[in-house]
Amino acid sequence: MLLTIHVIGSKILRETAVDIDKSYPELRRLIDNMFETMDKSEGVGLAAPQVGSPINLFVVDTTPLAEDDPTLKDFRKVFINANIIEVSGDKYLYNEGCLSVPGYRDDVERHQKILIEYLDQDFNYYKEYYDGIKARVIQHEYDHIKGVLFVDRLSTLKKQIIRNKLKGIASGRFNVSYKTKIANI
Ligand code: NI
Repeated sequence: MLLTIHVIGSKILRETAVDIDKSYPELRRLIDNMFETMDKSEGVGLAAPQVGSPINLFVVDTTPLAEDDPTLKDFRKVFINANIIEVSGDKYLYNEGCLSVPGYRDDVERHQKILIEYLDQDFNYYKEYYDGIKARVIQHEYDHIKGVLFVDRLSTLKKQIIRNKLKGIASGRFNVSYKTKIANI
């Protein structure tokens, strides 16, 4: 089932998501629906708060980015109760977009490498390093768990420049093929 994606301006995108345990209702179905929604909307990641569930869960699939880097093919994973333990390496700029900020992309600075602990869909524990684009996508989704959007990471000046653009997006001024929900403002 395709889920509705909350757009910037929606309060749920600003909340800190909570950890869950195995008893979380209909978790498997939510994960399946998140993958389906991400695939259909051509995203490379989707966090549960974006589809209205304020829990520490996100999915990624970097396959659409595999043209330049074959290791990104089939990197399709579920992260539950994720916790980034450390970030390292040089910061670098990379052009990002977000299904919750439709019609806007910009270069965002993030660290090269992360150490993250998380559970998979069967609640198996992992503690792993990631770098490059995988680390980039994971950091973007992890931000959603903390109530942060990629546009928050732009410079103060840039944020001023795009303020009205983002207000427009928040009030529905965009055109995408997936289902969206804007805040009642
Ligand atoms: Ni996003």
